[in-house]
Amino acid sequence: MNNLIIKNIKSLIQTEDQHRPFVAGSDMASLPAIHDAWLEVKGGMIKEYGSMSTFSAQSFADNTEIIDATGRLVLPAWCDSHTHLVYPKSRDVEYVDKIKGLSYEEIAARGGGILNSARLMQTASEDQLFEDAMSRLQEIIRWGTGAVEIKSGYGLTLESELKMLRVIKRLKEASPLTIKSTFLGAHSIPLEYRGKQEQYVDLVINEMLPAVAKEGLADYVDVFCDVGFFTVEDTDRILNAAAKYGLTPKIHANELDYSGGIQVGVQHKALSVDHLEFTGEDEIKALKDSGTMPTILPGAAFFLNMAYAPTRKMMDAGLPVALASDYNPGSSPSGNMQLIMSMGSILYRMLPEEVINAVTKNTAYAMGIDKELGSIMKGKKANLVITKPIPGIEYLPYAYGENKVETTILNGVAVN
Ligand code: NIG
Ligand code: FE
Repeated sequence: MNNLIIKNIKSLIQTEDQHRPFVAGSDMASLPAIHDAWLEVKGGMIKEYGSMSTFSAQSFADNTEIIDATGRLVLPAWCDSHTHLVYPKSRDVEYVDKIKGLSYEEIAARGGGILNSARLMQTASEDQLFEDAMSRLQEIIRWGTGAVEIKSGYGLTLESELKMLRVIKRLKEASPLTIKSTFLGAHSIPLEYRGKQEQYVDLVINEMLPAVAKEGLADYVDVFCDVGFFTVEDTDRILNAAAKYGLTPKIHANELDYSGGIQVGVQHKALSVDHLEFTGEDEIKALKDSGTMPTILPGAAFFLNMAYAPTRKMMDAGLPVALASDYNPGSSPSGNMQLIMSMGSILYRMLPEEVINAVTKNTAYAMGIDKELGSIMKGKKANLVITKPIPGIEYLPYAYGENKVETTILNGVAVN
């Protein structure tokens, strides 16, 4: 593996001498940086970095590749801790229904939404799913993503859930991205289980979970704990069962109502609770000092025209906040984390420093890889972005729609 030096970096952002698991509260507005900096990569890892005043070219081996980053920023590549990017087909027809005024719940109640994708999933071929997902991964790499979590949950039968998770396993092997997989068998209640959803929960617990665990297909477990989907009791049962297989939860919670999803997630020491449009004082209290990362998904709130999660209130209460894409065909058909950063600042009034913390350090924590990624630290994996020449970090959320990333480096290698 080649050695790499990046020199004349205008600003090296999110540097860290000592590991911090995540950034919370008012600390989210600070972003450590070195201006006029260099960085050395060896064996795919960050070896050393510093100010250009300490740079001496002679001390690097002959076969070292040198990138001159004059005018450009270097940051840790984004970590996208919540996606559903293995799916059979877009759902643009439902999108028109949404424009005409149908709500997410109304579309779901008619057998649309997640069930629509689940129907198509039954006959989708594993190879086609893999190829389509690979091209989505290529696309998010170009936007600067270096790590991504991918969920199952469009199978909703034993065979199809396993099919999705096997596809994710192949993606892990084939892609240079760092990938984590999450079993989301409890994503929606299939029509044939309506009125007897505890039987579907039994299926998740007694058949799906053991099979998923046996093949070692999941890093985490998820439940959509919300009104019209799974109850707190269902969630509690599934998470208790998953704990026996060592699966840590990451929960869809409080998107449609004060569902109790946040509290049940925290009780089960969830790594993250995600969506959180319905977050009040009780939920904030439950999250305080819990170790569970509140994760906001601006793409879904924007696309579904929902109320926005009270992100500022959460940070004012001392909580950390992460921002992820939720890339999926129904509620957020984009994995562009730069757009998520812009939404974070425009719709949620987060400062540039706060959004950068939210898509690097805090999402790394939310996907259990904070020791490996999410900051510029010696010994961490060299998953980096080099921007185009830009004025400063403010330009990242400001220039929405534009790709500010010139080069994405994964495992120390420039991949675009
Ligand atoms: O995170 N909220 C639940 N699940 C997904 C939506 C998936 C879909 O509509 O296909 C989400 O938004
Ligand atoms: Fe989601």
